[in-house]
Amino acid sequence: MTLCLLTLKKQRPHSRYVLWSRIDQKSCFKSILTANLEPIIIEQIEHNQYLQTNVNEFEKQIQQLKPDEICCIISTTSCFAPRAIDNIQDLSQLCQTYSIPHLINNAYGLQSTKIIHEIEQAKRSNGRIDYIVQSTDKNFLVPVGGSIVLTYDSQLFDQLAHAYPGRASITPTTDMFITLLSMGKKGLLDLTRKRKVLFHRFYDKLSQWANENNECILSSKQFSPISIAISLKHLSNDHLTELGSMLFTRRISGARVIKLGAKQTIDTYEFINYGAHSSNIQYSYVTVAAAIGIEEDDIEIFMKKFDNVYQKLRRNENSDD
Ligand SMILES: Cc1ncc(COP(=O)(O)O)c(C=O)c1O
Repeated sequence: MTLCLLTLKKQRPHSRYVLWSRIDQKSCFKSILTANLEPIIIEQIEHNQYLQTNVNEFEKQIQQLKPDEICCIISTTSCFAPRAIDNIQDLSQLCQTYSIPHLINNAYGLQSTKIIHEIEQAKRSNGRIDYIVQSTDKNFLVPVGGSIVLTYDSQLFDQLAHAYPGRASITPTTDMFITLLSMGKKGLLDLTRKRKVLFHRFYDKLSQWANENNECILSSKQFSPISIAISLKHLSNDHLTELGSMLFTRRISGARVIKLGAKQTIDTYEFINYGAHSSNIQYSYVTVAAAIGIEEDDIEIFMKKFDNVYQKLRRNENSDD
């Protein structure tokens, strides 16, 4: 991300701002600071219990700051629910209208046909997209450490390639090569299809669980196609922490419990409700994901362990009263 920002900055020497649709993931935000640019944080808006891009605020900021002073807009596709995929189509149109570059953080979006469709649709409608950055580990089941940068424009590609100051490690490329050869195209596409089917199954099971326990799903099946957020209205803060640790010790390592009120400072920027992608969220919640590589058993095992731990803490909650 930093390399893309520095490459764009070179084309726009008078720019200093990056308009960034808030996502509570540190590396993307830090990439802006490392590139010595100034982030303008655009908060999400709440829409029927999920969080959506505030496109109007983007336009307002562009008009206030002058387009030349903006290095680029950063949007994010894949993220933890209840934050939804950014509105890539509208943001791409804004970038086209005001001639501002558009950098997409597509961290683990390659595994979702919905996310790819949104990006392609934005491009087909003549929206502006400069670079799309994604991690290899999250999309191709390889170890952490590599990224793939995509662009529709060979000139942009050359500018980025020339900006790279050295020789990259061959390890991520070798990992990808071995993995793709062993899976084959069919193997990879089968995993992608399976993920989609299991996401819907997971969502339905969690919806039913939420109904039975007077909790609710805080994310949209349509706009959060990988991650699902479930409210934890009936647990106190202490029990929320306990839930997270109990899940972890039961080998549920991907679930994250988000407690309201957490503050986080990154550099000089303070975020309220850090982890929740929004200062105005109503309930604490747990977020889970159906990511590539998921198996049917994973869902059954999660539901059993999660329900077990939740009921235990909720009983304690009642007896504490
Ligand atoms: C939305 C988002 N952006 C960026 C990153 C960082 O990616 P990497 O670890 O490949 O640098 C992550 C990692 O989880 C992520 O979820």
